[in-house]
Amino acid sequence: KTVREGFPQDFLWGGATSAIQIEGGYDQDGKGLGSGDMVTAGSRNSRRRVTRTLEEGVYYPSHEAIDFYHRYKEDIALFAEMGFKIFRLSISWSRIFPTGEETEPNEEGLKFYDNVIGELRKYGIEPLVTLSHYELPFALSEKYNGWGSRKLIDLFVKYSEVLFNRYKDSVKYWITFNELNCLLKPYGTYIAGGMLSEDSDLFFNLEADSKQERLQAMHYQLVASAKTVISGRKINPDFHIGCMITYHTPYPYTCNPDDVMLAQEEDLINNLLCSDVQIRGEYSGQALRYFHDHKITLDVTEEDEALLKQGCVDYYTFSYYTPFTLSKDPSMETTSGNMSRGIKNPYLKTSDWGWQIDAQGLRWALNNIYHRYQIPMMIVENGLGAVDKIEADGSIQDDYRIEYFREHIKAMKESIKDGVDLIGYTPWGCIDLVSVSTGEMAKRYGMIYVDKHDDGSGTLERRRKKSFGWYKQVIESNGEDL
Ligand code: BG6
Repeated sequence: KTVREGFPQDFLWGGATSAIQIEGGYDQDGKGLGSGDMVTAGSRNSRRRVTRTLEEGVYYPSHEAIDFYHRYKEDIALFAEMGFKIFRLSISWSRIFPTGEETEPNEEGLKFYDNVIGELRKYGIEPLVTLSHYELPFALSEKYNGWGSRKLIDLFVKYSEVLFNRYKDSVKYWITFNELNCLLKPYGTYIAGGMLSEDSDLFFNLEADSKQERLQAMHYQLVASAKTVISGRKINPDFHIGCMITYHTPYPYTCNPDDVMLAQEEDLINNLLCSDVQIRGEYSGQALRYFHDHKITLDVTEEDEALLKQGCVDYYTFSYYTPFTLSKDPSMETTSGNMSRGIKNPYLKTSDWGWQIDAQGLRWALNNIYHRYQIPMMIVENGLGAVDKIEADGSIQDDYRIEYFREHIKAMKESIKDGVDLIGYTPWGCIDLVSVSTGEMAKRYGMIYVDKHDDGSGTLERRRKKSFGWYKQVIESNGEDL
């Protein structure tokens, strides 16, 4: 054995999206309302709201999004032009089961995904399908308080089985839940759990948070994920089914052992608790202690425990945007991040939205995770949300985005040299899409520009940014020509 230099020959380069952020067509061809369809626009300074009914005159960004529903052919052709080997999309549950409880799936909804998957296959692009990316049929939020109820487990498994059977020969890579561990943080309550609150209609329902309810929802999702893996494996033993974690590299602010300990606790709980269950089949000792210390009593049955043991995932996927700096000192200045806040790290630059940029943190994360689990890994989100400007000649010179990706790809290369089994990279929003945290279009992640704006205006025309050509060259050279 020798040191591995460079990316493996079959490395899966691509891009990532989610249904609520790109599709639009929110009420077409039998689709039911999804939890994401009830969320208003917001901005960096005003929080998004969840409305119980669609309100007249209110703008809901997911309703049209970037209209991938009607433009998928053009978009996939552009992905193919960049040389994508893989494309991450999510399926909208309420397109398949409009209220979540029908006995038969909505054939029209399935046809849309037949077409998208067929189009990807036409170009030899591997689809990577997330079964649940921050949405569920809104009827399930109203009737059961979303993932607050055990009832959702079997409804989710039924939905997943429909997709596994339908795409058993055309999709190999699956993810059960996007960023399942975000239920460990208050912001996950509605966004991932679909849980409504009596006291507040805020999307990030930080004020009316119930840790008990949130962690119970997390447990139900973990069981649903395990059951889904078990049933997927029966349908096609060659499926690769993965977990998906939002990972924040934890830095102690100082070498004070209190800060160092805090950073380790952050890692063991917020980063690793869910993947420990999804990969090792049981809650870790630290997790049990965390529940105990926070007086959390979970509804966990013996059957759940057996399912968690059997339904372990095949590979680990994660999103990486920013590290998380921790200090025991409550007076430290905080900064924004992937929907959570940490201490401002004086060594790091920030994005236009205040998210700290740290490519080395990605290498740290890859090494830390791989050497814990030793299973194949894929980075399924990473990217820079920035304001892009169209020049007089129509071009978009997004050198800042190129610089961001270049540094992160270099860090990936280093981690491969460190021995990490990294199999793919799908940067977030290879095409501009609706931001989850703010509902804005102005926060652009793409290598493809979409003419759509925060007030809903725009022609929806697609345009290649400078990063488009650059990423094409990266893929062509298998990560050598950066
Ligand atoms: C991840 C989510 O947490 O962050 C994506 O999985 C999201 O759905 C991405 O879009 C970036 O966050 P934002 O708020 O800039 O859209």
